Amino acid sequence: MKELPQEKSPQEKPLKENVLIKDEEDEAVKIEKKEEQKGKREHGKEGYDEKFEALLDYLKHHRGSDFTGYKRQSLTRRVLRRMQAANIKDFSEYQDYLEAHPEEFSNLFNTILINVTAFFRDKPAWDYLSREVIPKILEDKPEGEVIRIWSAGCATGEEAYSLAMVMIEALGEEKFKTRVKIFATDIDDLALAQARTATYGPKEIEPVPKEMREKYFAASGGSYAFRTDLRRSIIFGRHDIIQDAPISHLDLLVCRNTLMYFNSETQSKILARFHFALNDSGYLFLGRAELLLTHTKLFVPVNLKCRIFMKMPKANMRDKLLVLAQTGDYDSTRQVISRFRDILPAT
Ligand SMILES: C[S@@+](CC[C@H](N)C(=O)[O-])C[C@H]1O[C@@H](n2cnc3c(N)ncnc32)[C@H](O)[C@@H]1O
Repeated sequence: MKELPQEKSPQEKPLKENVLIKDEEDEAVKIEKKEEQKGKREHGKEGYDEKFEALLDYLKHHRGSDFTGYKRQSLTRRVLRRMQAANIKDFSEYQDYLEAHPEEFSNLFNTILINVTAFFRDKPAWDYLSREVIPKILEDKPEGEVIRIWSAGCATGEEAYSLAMVMIEALGEEKFKTRVKIFATDIDDLALAQARTATYGPKEIEPVPKEMREKYFAASGGSYAFRTDLRRSIIFGRHDIIQDAPISHLDLLVCRNTLMYFNSETQSKILARFHFALNDSGYLFLGRAELLLTHTKLFVPVNLKCRIFMKMPKANMRDKLLVLAQTGDYDSTRQVISRFRDILPAT
């Protein structure tokens, strides 16, 4: 995992852009909901534009940023927004513009990546996690063993600090410091730089309950900084969930409101890696608008409404297979064998 230099000063994305982005995210949620209702996902049927694909190819091969796995509809809209700002109508012309103006690349990158986030986003799901899931993780974990958590697509860090707070509430500060490691990653260096400052304004801190705010944050000049001594258990790093090897041996993998930006093929690839990254019976916590319509065989719902799933352990399937083979139930045995094949991690 590549670490971003700590000294880089964070720059906030302009407020106006954040508002636009929020609208866009709401729209992405709506689109996902529609798909959920219809019970289908895209299967590469989206409008194909040769010039747009050539632009994505250029970004992938010349700038090292692979956006080919992102859903075309919203991706195109965001690229068009940048083109409009540069008064350009044609994708090939925009590609030439990017070559001539390398500084445009970071504008484009910022427009494509949506960093909207919040502490304890979708509170009922976090309440369920704290009440039902965290105690089970602790119960199953031998005393003294490290609990490994990954916040993938952590944006500006609110999710990672929320995880830290629920773990401290469950374990106490001392045990948290020695037993918990939270890996928090994102592809966006600017968002990560902001996350590392651990400092939030009054509006951003609002979702944090008052007693937690008082316990875990130091207030200064109208902003709130997550306590330095507790920050050491949270490791921020740049990581691309499409291209980079996953963090492994996890007890809990939190990837919220990120998968929904990818097409179904890319989501499948990521989910197979997530399955590999989790310990047997580890938990996967997705965003409100995300469902596991693919790879349902790899994860079992724990609470569908809260989008919390459990890894289907390989060992369970092996046991099932042995029992089934003994019963001579040919059809069921075949079904389990096919599941078994599916869980081999895709590379
Ligand atoms: C909408 S935010 C979600 C933040 C947080 N998980 C939450 O639910 O509040 C989506 C994040 O995914 C990140 N992202 C997009 N593509 C990514 C990729 N390929 N690898 C890692 N992170 C990515 C974006 O930079 C952004 O910070």
